[in-house]
Parts: sequence; C-alpha cells; structure tokens
Amino acid sequence: MLTVSARENTSTLPCGYKVDGTPGQIEAIRQVIDLFSLNKDQLTKIIAQFVDEMGKGLDHDGATVAMIPSFVPGKPTGKETGTYLALDLGGTNLRVCKVVLLGDGKYDIHQRKYVVSETLKRGKMHDLCDFIAECVGAFLSEQHTSTDSERLKLGFTFSFPIFQTSMNRGVLKQWTKGFACSGAVGKDAALMLQEALHKKHINVDIVAIVNDTVGTLMAHAYQEPDTMMGVIMGTGANISYCEKIANITKWKQQDHGSAEEMAINMECGAFDCERRVLPVTVYDQRIDRQSLNVHEQQHEKMIAGMYLGEITRQIMLDMIDRRLLFGGRSSSELNRQWSFDTAYMSTIEKDTSAKLLDTGHILESIMNIPSTALADRQMVKIITTCVGRRAARLHACGLAGVMTQTRKLDTACTIAVDGSLFEFYPNFEKNIMDALVEIYGPKMKDNVKFALSRDGSGLGAAVVAMMAHKHTQK
Ligand code: GLC
Repeated sequence: MLTVSARENTSTLPCGYKVDGTPGQIEAIRQVIDLFSLNKDQLTKIIAQFVDEMGKGLDHDGATVAMIPSFVPGKPTGKETGTYLALDLGGTNLRVCKVVLLGDGKYDIHQRKYVVSETLKRGKMHDLCDFIAECVGAFLSEQHTSTDSERLKLGFTFSFPIFQTSMNRGVLKQWTKGFACSGAVGKDAALMLQEALHKKHINVDIVAIVNDTVGTLMAHAYQEPDTMMGVIMGTGANISYCEKIANITKWKQQDHGSAEEMAINMECGAFDCERRVLPVTVYDQRIDRQSLNVHEQQHEKMIAGMYLGEITRQIMLDMIDRRLLFGGRSSSELNRQWSFDTAYMSTIEKDTSAKLLDTGHILESIMNIPSTALADRQMVKIITTCVGRRAARLHACGLAGVMTQTRKLDTACTIAVDGSLFEFYPNFEKNIMDALVEIYGPKMKDNVKFALSRDGSGLGAAVVAMMAHKHTQK
C-alpha cells in the first residue's frame, strides 16, 4: 500500500489529476487510480489469456468464451437486394425494422422502438414473446405492409448467449444484462417467438437468429466487405469476427457451400469468469454479488455501459462511508442500486470547467447530495475517469486477442462498432487506441480503423436474413 505524508499535496497525483483536498482524500483517490490502472504487462497477460480461451471455445462446446458459430457462411457482397424485417431485442428497447436492401451497399430503413418494461424483462417468456409479436403486428399495419400474399422473412437479433443449432434456431444458455424471464433458459427463443407470431396470424418467417455483434459485422460488411469484426460497446459488451472454418475445430457441419469463413459470436463478456487475470476489485465483487447473474459475465461487468455507473456509485459510497466524500453524507438516490447512470459519467468526463459545474449539477440536482465542495467534484471526476479508462483498456484486450488470433496485428483491420459507450463516452476510442499503441506500437494507428455502425442490429439482422434466405434457396 502507498503511504502519503501529511505534507503531500495535489501535485503528487499521477496523470495531471488534481484534488484540492485533505491528505486523506488525496491518499484515497491515489488508491483508486492505482486499483483501476492496467499497465502494459497486465494488458499483455490478459490478451494472452484471451487468445487461449478463444482457442478452447473454437475447439469444444462448454468453454468459458463460447465462440458460437453464426451458421452464416461468408459475408455479404453489398450487391444483394430485397425487403426484410428485423427485430432487435437485447439492449434498452425493442426495435422493429423494415429494411429494403437496394444493392451497392445502399439501403432504406423504417423502424420503431418499443419500451420493454422491467416487468416484462423479468416476467414469463411467453408474455415477452406475445408482446414482441404484438409490436410486429402493430408495426406492419402502421407500415401498411400486408403479409397476406407473401410471407415476410425476418432476422431476429437476440443478443444473449445461445446454443445455436442452425441459422434460425438457438437455445438460450443464460440471460444477461438484467433480463431474467422464466421459461426461456434451455428453450429455443426463435421457435417461441415464431409460435407467438403464428398465434396472432402474423405471416412472418424467422429465417435467422442473429447476435447483435454479428449484425454489426454484417451491416458494415454490406457497405465495406473488408470489415473484420463487429463489436458492441453499449449496455452489454461482446465481439464477433470472421474465422476460417478450418480453425473452428468443433464445427462438424458440411453445409457452408464454398465459403471459407464464418462469423463467430464470441460471447466474450464471459471471459475470465474464473478470475485468473482480470483485475477484479472489491467494487467489482459487489456488483457481481448483487447482480442477477452472479459469477457470470465477469469481463462484461467491468466494461459495459450497464455496469460502469454502478461501479462508480460503489466507489463513491465507499468514500462516503469513510467520510472522505460529501462530508460523509449520501442521499436516498445515491443509495439506490443502478441510480448512477453511465450517461452521467459522460457528462462528468466532458466537464472541464474550473469549478466542475456540470459535475456539481449531477451530484446535487440529480443525485440530491445536499452540497459538494470542489474537492468532492474533483474526486468524482477522477473516479469516473479511472472506471471509464479501465473499461476502454479492457475492451482493447479483447480486440487485440482477435487481431492476434487472426494475424491482423500487422495489416489493415476494420472494426465496426455499435453502442452508446463508443458513440457518446468521451475519449473511449482514444483510450482503446492508446492501449493498443502502448502494446504494439504506433503502427496500430495506421492499421486499425474503427467505424461506427449505428444500424448494426437492424440492418445487420436484415442482411443476415437475406443471406440465410438465399442460402436455403440454393
Ligand atoms: C451480452 C450478450 C451478448 C451481446 C452483448 C452485447 O454480452 O450475452 O450476446 O452480444 O451483451 O449486447
């Protein structure tokens, strides 16, 4: 443990961090900085473990990093055309989309969002499926789309770990991201939804069940066929990438035509559940213990938008209890689990005013802390930065693992990304790139291209539906 003498002042904190506070506050914040830092050696070790776990997942079922084959051979060329429906379940909302693929990488998309209530998220799977089917019905009538003469083909983005058994069949392994519907684990999610659609006489065929990462990869590949990875940095976190079919040693199917590659949904949120290399802190332990999926998704719980605000809240509560923050006072808002939204962290990170006024606004007006001193606000900003930076660096490890596995460390590599962290969190992409440069040198800046792929789950599911449909017609 570091010791700080009473005479030590603000200038001793690393990385230009500044706290106009007491030695006790400075020492506490220094410990947080230390706890949430990841040096090059740690990053390298995590990447090596990542590659190792990827190998196990490609070799056999039941590995920690599941490495689920998407069953979609190859990638789109961008020339494909047709009208498809897409459904996106797995983030904050349910989205229903009608996508017209126009060829030349162009498309038209009409979509509608529906809120999935917390009650539905934790109720019965049958009720959730009925709700989804109702939304599809409402959307189709709104779009004046009749399914009387021709059955529409639908790509179902279901962003949870599944045992996929064909393009449109997948048995749910476990829920993640705060969903916990009963009667779903061990059942085929696509089949259950298909039955609900059928019951309501909605003539739609689910031709593909798609992970959002695979959707993101395919959506971007429709416009840029060289795309290598599809990544979600949002409520949850996960990666898909194109793997040589010859390397998927557990893959025994022969049904992939002439394609040499297949997108793999890694489900790498589960990485290192055994906690061999991840620097799990006491705060991470608390998050895990209070979660709906204890001992699962360890990596995701340290890097995804759903959890970052909660980690920050846990650190703040700890400091309050030690009378180092807000004069030892909390509020009922701050005491409530999940109350500190990750979006607040984005605002705090953006706040560069001398008095940290926006930070003060979040703490006092939204979280109802009676009053904050400048040192409090500075401490909260540093905590936020540390949690956000660690998340970005741990994301970098996953990406580096895939680049190592696919031998893309020395060549151009286009990574399509969707998700609010990537889109809105200040410096997220920069922090990822800084970590990659730290490990592999400046060539990474030339080789790696990140592309925001906003329509990942909508366009991507439609593209996969099109590919699945074409494949079955062969
Ligand atoms: C969770 C899900 C995974 C999804 C990711 C991003 O990790 O298990 O399937 O891709 O969240 O939404």
